[in-house]
Amino acid sequence: MSASLDDLPLRPDLRGLKPYGAPQAPLPVALNVNENTHPVPEDVADDIVDAIARAVREVNRYPDREFTVLREGFADYLGHGLAADQIWAANGSNEVLQHLLQAFGGPGRTAFGFAPTYSMYPLLTRATGAEYIAGTRGVDYTLDADDARRQIEQADPDLVFLCAPNNPTGTPLGLDVIEAVYEATDGIVIVDEAYQEFAPHDSRSALTLLPGRERLVVSRTMSKAFAFAGARVGYLAADPAVIDALHLVRLPYHLSGLTQAAAIAALRHAPAMLATVDEIVAQRDRISVTLDALGYEPFESWTNFVLFAGVDDPAATWQALYDQGVLIRDVGLPRSLRVTAGTEAESTAFLDALASLGPGGAHT
Ligand SMILES: Cc1ncc(COP(=O)(O)O)c(C=O)c1O
Repeated sequence: MSASLDDLPLRPDLRGLKPYGAPQAPLPVALNVNENTHPVPEDVADDIVDAIARAVREVNRYPDREFTVLREGFADYLGHGLAADQIWAANGSNEVLQHLLQAFGGPGRTAFGFAPTYSMYPLLTRATGAEYIAGTRGVDYTLDADDARRQIEQADPDLVFLCAPNNPTGTPLGLDVIEAVYEATDGIVIVDEAYQEFAPHDSRSALTLLPGRERLVVSRTMSKAFAFAGARVGYLAADPAVIDALHLVRLPYHLSGLTQAAAIAALRHAPAMLATVDEIVAQRDRISVTLDALGYEPFESWTNFVLFAGVDDPAATWQALYDQGVLIRDVGLPRSLRVTAGTEAESTAFLDALASLGPGGAHT
């Protein structure tokens, strides 16, 4: 016999919430959670395995609580004159965001995001006891500085999430919007650059805005461009005072010795780990062009995925693709679906399967 949640003394503010639940189905073509579908190169994998093997021999001891070598690695990788004391890391950028919310959010506080945006922002916010406020976006899910400033001044949140480029829409975000939001609030401004490596090479990262802005945080992940989603490593750059605050809320030794060893070894091979980015960007652009030719309306994307509208029945089309072995994502936006850019073969499989459904996709 099993109880239901209603039978348990669950926190009242968690009642009715739905957990994160992207399907994990064993289909041949899985393009639903914006992973890098290219495996880690064989020689790099060998090096990571060696590093983990060495770390295993030391697992009787707690790992370096300050993950010093890893922080130095991230500072080097990010550049922009950053030092290790400006870097934080955790088990995926989800945990990085959770630490920020634990330190700067919590009961009686509010966090703000411009909807539609990353679905974990409201969940993480509420799970850490704060209230989530959803703002709005303009035409084609873009955000302009004046509109963003007005919304932030009105809501007066304690934290703001700016997803740049934005998931699930792929939309780029101007640095002028980040500057305007920063000026409009006394709270923490988090720029989530999970997909930054897929943006045009000459686009500027929010890292360039860090000097002199002690409430600005730029978070990144190894899950996407680095093809390291299964290792669970995310990180951020910010003022050292922000890092001091995060020390207050993290669990001791939160990054295991095995995780640190794997990430340090992977970072040593950053160019090889990132070698597939240009190929993925080429597939993303090919997907957009082909979707357009098929009569759909792809939105501009600076990420490794494409959101497209013009789908008559998203649920039926999602299911029809599923039945052909292709898993994509119904993110709940009107007449739209989202697909991750995979290898050339995976992207072709998706495009062929969609084309086979006829104009506007499948219908019930
Ligand atoms: C915008 C954004 N931020 C953060 C994450 C979390 O990534 P991870 O926890 O794997 O680092 C994702 C994952 O899809 C994402 O899309």
